[in-house]
Amino acid sequence: MMLRAQRDRYAIGYFEAWDTYSMEAVLETAEEENSPVIIGFGGMMLETEWLDHGGVALLGAIGSHYARRSQVPVALILNEAQSMGQIRQGIDAGFNTLMLDTSTWPWDDAVATVSEITEIAHRNNLTVEAELGCLPDATSEGIDDSAAFLTDPERAAEFVEITGIDCLAVSIGNVHLLTRHDAPINHAHLEAIHARVQVPLVIHGGTSFPAESIPHAIANGVAKFNVGTTLKKAYAEAAREAISKSTALSVHELMGSHKVTDWCEAGKKAMKERVRTLMRLYGSAGKALRHHPEARICPSPCEARADKGEAR
Ligand code: 13P
Repeated sequence: MMLRAQRDRYAIGYFEAWDTYSMEAVLETAEEENSPVIIGFGGMMLETEWLDHGGVALLGAIGSHYARRSQVPVALILNEAQSMGQIRQGIDAGFNTLMLDTSTWPWDDAVATVSEITEIAHRNNLTVEAELGCLPDATSEGIDDSAAFLTDPERAAEFVEITGIDCLAVSIGNVHLLTRHDAPINHAHLEAIHARVQVPLVIHGGTSFPAESIPHAIANGVAKFNVGTTLKKAYAEAAREAISKSTALSVHELMGSHKVTDWCEAGKKAMKERVRTLMRLYGSAGKALRHHPEARICPSPCEARADKGEAR
């Protein structure tokens, strides 16, 4: 999906979900917009204990279920997993793309671990994303760039070559979790990476990536944008408003009913409009080949192994 996007000059959004309502928001919009999409869940914001003790398996089951029902091409990513244990659980849970957050790791450790993941993943017909460089994080006080550094173009080429990853997330001025203003993108730095790295490039921090820089990014190898914060903000604001307006109703109407009175449905509706705007900006709207054999997730690792009569 990403190679096709890179070749045909558009990008695919990874719109990070956290539950079934948010997952439905992403997939319904992808189908309405006839857009390929990357769905999934991220480890960065989640409680490690919960993830380790059933969380990864549950999220994989939810994501696989929705992916299989989809009419448009879908990949299912376990994004920013926190440990190799979570990656292994993610493979068994049905994710078909894996990413361990090694952005702050020493070079040798990151290379060794990401190479190991790629080796296991490719054996199981799965793909791997990794990040080189480290993004600043927005905080309530401003921007924390104490651990941040830009992706070194030469090191990026070396990293891709050694590890065999399928796509590379880069740090080019993009910022995680920022909502107050756009991030200061270094276009020349992206061009230098693109000149040396052939695999599709990924931008994390999609919330604050400037709309006017999207065409330049796509022209320079970016085939995926990761989006999180703006989706939760849109959802939370709409849900809060729906709750405040509907105090007279029964809680059963307000919560989990999937009726128009359900505040989660209000959140979902607002989230869908954010996803729609971004799919159009990324140019993925209209690019799905409906009912094409690719319009479903590739076999889960268990199915692929069973087909080949292999064990992992
Ligand atoms: P934002 O929350 O800044 O959009 O970043 C999301 C992200 O990069 C998830 O990997």
